[in-house]
Amino acid sequence: MNTKTTIAGLEFPSYICNASGPNDATLDELHVLGSSGSSAIVMKSCTIEPRSGNAEPRYARLPYGAIQSMGLPNLGYRAYGEFAPLLQSYGKPIVASIAGLSVEDYRVMVDTFQESDVDLIEVNLSCPNIEGKPQVAYDFEQTEKVLSVVSRSGTKPVGVKLPPYFDYVHQQHMAELIEKYQISFVTCINSVGNVLVIDPEKETPILKPKKGFGGLSGSYIKPIALANVRAFYNLLGDKISIFGVGGIQSGVDAFEFLLAGADVVQVGTIFEKEGPACFGRIEKELVDILIAKGYHSVADAKGRLKFL
Ligand code: SIN
Repeated sequence: MNTKTTIAGLEFPSYICNASGPNDATLDELHVLGSSGSSAIVMKSCTIEPRSGNAEPRYARLPYGAIQSMGLPNLGYRAYGEFAPLLQSYGKPIVASIAGLSVEDYRVMVDTFQESDVDLIEVNLSCPNIEGKPQVAYDFEQTEKVLSVVSRSGTKPVGVKLPPYFDYVHQQHMAELIEKYQISFVTCINSVGNVLVIDPEKETPILKPKKGFGGLSGSYIKPIALANVRAFYNLLGDKISIFGVGGIQSGVDAFEFLLAGADVVQVGTIFEKEGPACFGRIEKELVDILIAKGYHSVADAKGRLKFL
């Protein structure tokens, strides 16, 4: 069974890779991803300066996923540019993820990664966890300013990591900007931002930062993620590639994202819980489903959602 696929014309050896987020901030963690079954090495979203992130507790597992308010703990973009050549021997795509705190930050980081050994640049427009910094992609004027600087330089494909949208008119608006600025791929979706989980015993939120408001991930958000993948697939078809992310923990989940139109799926919450064994397990479960259903490759099933 052939599970090779592509994002923006770049070959991915299999369908499952890590999502920017858990266990991808240090060189040691990136080497673990290199040796794992992940089809790419996706780096932690970085900022200009290193950040230690938000106060603890900032991550909590939940029955069907997790809530977190990490606050972009990372080593600063220069470190990830230096790590890229050290990771090339794994022979899989290296994806930088950038999270500017201003338009100028995005410009500086994208220009630098365009000159580096990374293969793809994911522009994170959707981190919900920085106090006083709204998620860029909910503000289309601000988004346009960022897209105008990140699409200006270099030949490496640039994509955007989007928050969940809950109305088609927003997906349409974003799709227009993606076309206008020739963005190569989308990553749908980041966590569902600013949810609240309360501990009734202590009578407090379970997270400390932002008075308890954090990003929800895992199975809770899978239907929202599927809807966003499908909406962008409907709107942009083969003009862009799609990373599907949000609640994938089994081959069945991955198959659903494939039917919706995802070219590759990323996993975060299950990787944090299960470790690197999750990539091979989910891939094998997906292959079993494809074989049982008579598909010959991932490409064969992509976008083939049927209607009632
Ligand atoms: C974080 O570090 O706060 C998570 C990153 C994100 O939501 O994009």
